[in-house]
Amino acid sequence: MTILEQLHQDHINLSRLLEVLEMKIQKLKAGDSPNFQLLSELVEYIGNYADQFHHPREDHMYHYFEKREASLDRHLHECERQHGDLKQLSKDVTELVDAVMHDAVIPMNEFIERLENFLERERAHINFEEETIFPAINAVSNDQDWQALEKDLPQPSDPLFGEKQGENYREIYKAMLQDVNSA
Ligand SMILES: [Fe+2]
Ligand SMILES: [Fe+2]
Repeated sequence: MTILEQLHQDHINLSRLLEVLEMKIQKLKAGDSPNFQLLSELVEYIGNYADQFHHPREDHMYHYFEKREASLDRHLHECERQHGDLKQLSKDVTELVDAVMHDAVIPMNEFIERLENFLERERAHINFEEETIFPAINAVSNDQDWQALEKDLPQPSDPLFGEKQGENYREIYKAMLQDVNSA
């Protein structure tokens, strides 16, 4: 798999978790009380995975393809800006869910709105990349680029970006989907 294919697979995994989050929000809207522990883990995982694992790999690839095309450059810069915004947003929302879990008094409609905003912005970002960025990168790239990027990727032993970290996330991801399905 090229890094682009791996990132696409990440989007599929993240989208599944965002669907689960959407179901949890629907439950809240219907007046049901979801399992807050699971909700908290879900939001935290989505944020951590995106901010600490997925986006740094994308930034690495985006940086590589800079200065090839003016329009692609504009999109790449917009994307990097969104990564910064989403990092702050996911931190805020994770704190919000934790606060609610620890009995902070927050109006339910405000809580739901903020979860929905998080869901929509994470989705919009993935769609922007899938529909605009990835096809544009595909159009300007060739096999040599993918080989060069492959060589340049962090090594498996790298605790932050390497294969080991990917493996850890896959384990948590599987466990979480099981939990969510049985909850
Ligand atoms: Fe991204
Ligand atoms: Fe992405």
